[in-house]
Amino acid sequence: MKILVTGALGQLGSELIPSLGERYGFDSILATDVREGNLKGVRMVKMDVTSLDSLKKLIRDEGIEEVFHLAAILSANGEKNPDLAYSVNMNGTWNILAASRDNDVKKVIIPSTIGVFGPDTPKKMVPPETIIRPRTMYGITKLASEFLGQYFSDRFGLDCRGLRFPGLISYSSPPGGGTTDYSIEMIMAAARGQSYQCFLKEDARLPMMYMPDAISSLISLSEADPKSLKRRMDYHVSAFSFTPGELYAELRKRRPEFTVTFKPDYRQEIADQWPESLDVSESARDWGFSPAYGFSSMIDDMLKHIS
Ligand SMILES: NC(=O)c1ccc[n+]([C@@H]2O[C@H](COP(=O)([O-])OP(=O)(O)OC[C@H]3O[C@@H](n4cnc5c(N)ncnc54)[C@H](O)[C@@H]3O)[C@@H](O)[C@H]2O)c1
Repeated sequence: MKILVTGALGQLGSELIPSLGERYGFDSILATDVREGNLKGVRMVKMDVTSLDSLKKLIRDEGIEEVFHLAAILSANGEKNPDLAYSVNMNGTWNILAASRDNDVKKVIIPSTIGVFGPDTPKKMVPPETIIRPRTMYGITKLASEFLGQYFSDRFGLDCRGLRFPGLISYSSPPGGGTTDYSIEMIMAAARGQSYQCFLKEDARLPMMYMPDAISSLISLSEADPKSLKRRMDYHVSAFSFTPGELYAELRKRRPEFTVTFKPDYRQEIADQWPESLDVSESARDWGFSPAYGFSSMIDDMLKHIS
């Protein structure tokens, strides 16, 4: 199997690629990103997903059979530059799907996000089917990407799969301009003996997940028997929910000298539109989603690795 990963240098890609390499062989992975960079053990090619012709050529020439499409502009950066977010998230996704359809790619995996929800969405234990009216460019383009994946599956028989991630917490590469980045920054500051100014309110509760569980959920969904999948692009995954205040309190138990001040900025308006928790029962039922890390074990593991 030959696997293409777009947005490979990002927070998710840089951790997905080692796992894919160990599972399927590093020779089978082609890592691409619009930025220059290297990832250990895999071939890296510079590739802009907004360029349909070069994408088609790459997929054809390399005999790509499966795509993990991770290239995106995330929520906070999307509000700073909505034109770019539209171009990368909408046109990039269309291009990936069209190039995959035209070159007999077997499967396309596209992560979605809690950013698809809007202020009308209920707050607690939100199921995949609910009121979904996003008001951010990130949310609008990611919801459209879910529909595009469904369309290409129904219309062209392309096996598209996707899940909605909550905020993802990891230590090995910097977060990519999302609203939940504060959690990583706060843990990093605590580990390094620095103080931290949080850009969300102390009581802004959001769903979250540790990166090892995000990686295993993407791989499990991609390997699931298609007959067991009742949904296509919008499976919910999440491991726990917390507020910045609760994270601060947990960090103070481990680093009593650590201090945080709260100064909410424009990202609080984005967080206000998102739910506090997700119903993940359909993912558990259809493809065995079961996160290994809880809130406390995630913090301990993050501190261990950063320290
Ligand atoms: N990180 C999270 O908390 C989170 C949460 C929910 C969903 N997601 C989803 O997961 C996926 C990956 O997110 P991430 O956290 O790794 O994001 P990231 O911002 O860290 O990485 C995205 C990568 O895409 C690349 N990119 C940007 N424009 C490109 C273009 N035109 N062509 C090719 N590459 C381009 C960037 O250089 C970057 O390396 C996205 O679809 C995102 O919506 C992430």
